[in-house]
Amino acid sequence: MSTFVIKINKIKMDDKILESARQFVEIQLKNTEPGHDYSHAMRVLQNVEKICLKEKCDVLIVRLAAILHDVADAKFHNGDEDKAIEIAKSFLESISVGNEIIEHVLFIIRHISYRKGIPPRMTPELAIVQDADRLDAIGAIGIARAFSYGGFMRRPLHDFDIIPNTEPSLKQPNTINHFYEKLLKIKDMMNTNTAKEIAEGRHEFLLLYLQHFYKEALGD
Ligand code: ADP
Ligand code: NI
Repeated sequence: MSTFVIKINKIKMDDKILESARQFVEIQLKNTEPGHDYSHAMRVLQNVEKICLKEKCDVLIVRLAAILHDVADAKFHNGDEDKAIEIAKSFLESISVGNEIIEHVLFIIRHISYRKGIPPRMTPELAIVQDADRLDAIGAIGIARAFSYGGFMRRPLHDFDIIPNTEPSLKQPNTINHFYEKLLKIKDMMNTNTAKEIAEGRHEFLLLYLQHFYKEALGD
């Protein structure tokens, strides 16, 4: 039988529940857009591990939510925001976890997204998984994900005819503008101090990247 082993900061953990969630998500997310794939789920899990070293929480809940949170992103399911909940619910009911855990994991999946605005209440577990997910949208990985999604949507890399706008209202979106709409705002949206600290370095890298991007794009 295979085991789920997390080896981060020398923590090793074998856990049948998490291993079955990992396998489930690996299959569910085969052939998805690379910015929202299985490797994203695993990076969010890694981020959660880091944050959990310093912030108090129920670790089983945050780990399960990290693994399952993007099991069916609405953007790739005709805008259906309930699809991920439905799939995660039926998976969680098929393994032996209690109802309270299922409810909390589903609550996190429902409210994790930037798009859905302020959640009705904040729990330490939602705060942590939300931060872990947002960390993966900035820094070097965040840049890769943004251009992956932009390519998937057939968007131009940039458009010098459009002055960078912080509101996502452009008629002709381009990926560099997404930095201004969203990525550069993320560091100030972190819930936990641990994630805030990690976000600082990743934010600096976004700024440096933009400097190089403009320089090269302007033929400097
Ligand atoms: P969330 O679900 O957390 O609100 P999204 O699913 O919108 O976040 O974003 C997930 C990833 O997809 C991020 O890395 C984000 O930068 C990227 N992404 C989302 N919208 C765009 C866009 N319009 N252009 C480029 N990347 C995008
Ligand atoms: Ni995500």
